[in-house]
Amino acid sequence: MKIGLTYDLKNNITLRPGGVDDEAEEYDPPGTIDALARAIEGLGHQAVRLGGGPEFLDNARRYPVDLAFNIAEGRGTYRSREAQIPSVLEMLGIPYSGADPMSLAVCLDKPSAKLVCLAAGVATPRYMVVDSPADLPALDHSDLTFPMFVKPSYEGSSKGIRQNSRVTNRQELHQAVHRVLELYHQPALVEEFIRGAEVTVGAVGNDPPKVLGVMEVVPRQGRHPDFMYSLEVKRDWEALVKYECPPQLPASCIRDIEAATVTLFKALGCRDLTRMDFRIDASHRVYFLECNPLPGMGVYSDLPILAGLVGWSYDQLVENILNAALQRCGLSTPPHAHRASL
Ligand SMILES: Nc1ncnc2c1ncn2[C@@H]1O[C@H](COP(=O)(O)OP(=O)(O)OP(=O)(O)O)[C@@H](O)[C@H]1O
Ligand SMILES: [Mg+2]
Repeated sequence: MKIGLTYDLKNNITLRPGGVDDEAEEYDPPGTIDALARAIEGLGHQAVRLGGGPEFLDNARRYPVDLAFNIAEGRGTYRSREAQIPSVLEMLGIPYSGADPMSLAVCLDKPSAKLVCLAAGVATPRYMVVDSPADLPALDHSDLTFPMFVKPSYEGSSKGIRQNSRVTNRQELHQAVHRVLELYHQPALVEEFIRGAEVTVGAVGNDPPKVLGVMEVVPRQGRHPDFMYSLEVKRDWEALVKYECPPQLPASCIRDIEAATVTLFKALGCRDLTRMDFRIDASHRVYFLECNPLPGMGVYSDLPILAGLVGWSYDQLVENILNAALQRCGLSTPPHAHRASL
């Protein structure tokens, strides 16, 4: 089959003069596309690089494909940017892997995802949203308890998330909110900071998805309830953290995390794959932080690392995601593509 690859490369992005230093953080290096293409071609398919942005528009019409394997983050700073490529693919009638525009947009906008989460009966940190610096002087944060955590409402890859995102008093809160509003030009999400373990969960497939594993992100200096998986840590992950799967948590807590993942996969409209982040407090209560229906697929991104810890190679991960998408779209798969089926 012809499998299109839709993606946005770091070096194709025009950075805004004076923009934030993490502006291109979510975009992929060429090596990720090479790894994906190799995995797809290893299954006997032809990988067709459709790219992203305006170049994708030309390529999508010039080079017909049977299905697009989508990892495109979308262009601009719009909160629905991840929905751009899937929307066009739908318009052109091209099947694609992963979530649809609605689900991608809801998940990127964390306050929207939290509303769905609460409606589905899963706990998430208590929160408020600050839209404008004009709201700061009269800001009433009495419903929330310090420490709090301040982050951009619709970013990923820890854009805008630094060690100083955790705030312990009103002055720090105001400074952090101000930073998000000024630098990221979007509402600031203020949450209660959940002290405890940091886990991320991978799921692949549909009806129901298979939870690949629950992976704990453990600081190399030793577990600490105030640990944050911030941008500084993600950029220097090899030195600062290690990954453990299964995590050092009671079996009942791991079951709760898996159940929350499956519930939210459906509630948020995920398809084929997802990676969700949770914090676990001292009494093992599970709090949903956010859902990544378009998780990083670099060889050293969290989902491929997690897959490796449960015995799946990078290529097997891609194979299972692709097979889930092909099956869901009613497209037959060649017999040799079932090697690592779920
Ligand atoms: N309410 C919270 N309590 C404790 N820690 C938090 C909270 N919110 C965020 N964090 C910390 O900040 C990290 C990044 O937050 P979050 O996952 O929301 O951002 P992201 O940029 O979307 O992440 P990703 O890189 O997974 O796309 C979390 O993994 C966690 O360590
Ligand atoms: Mg995250």
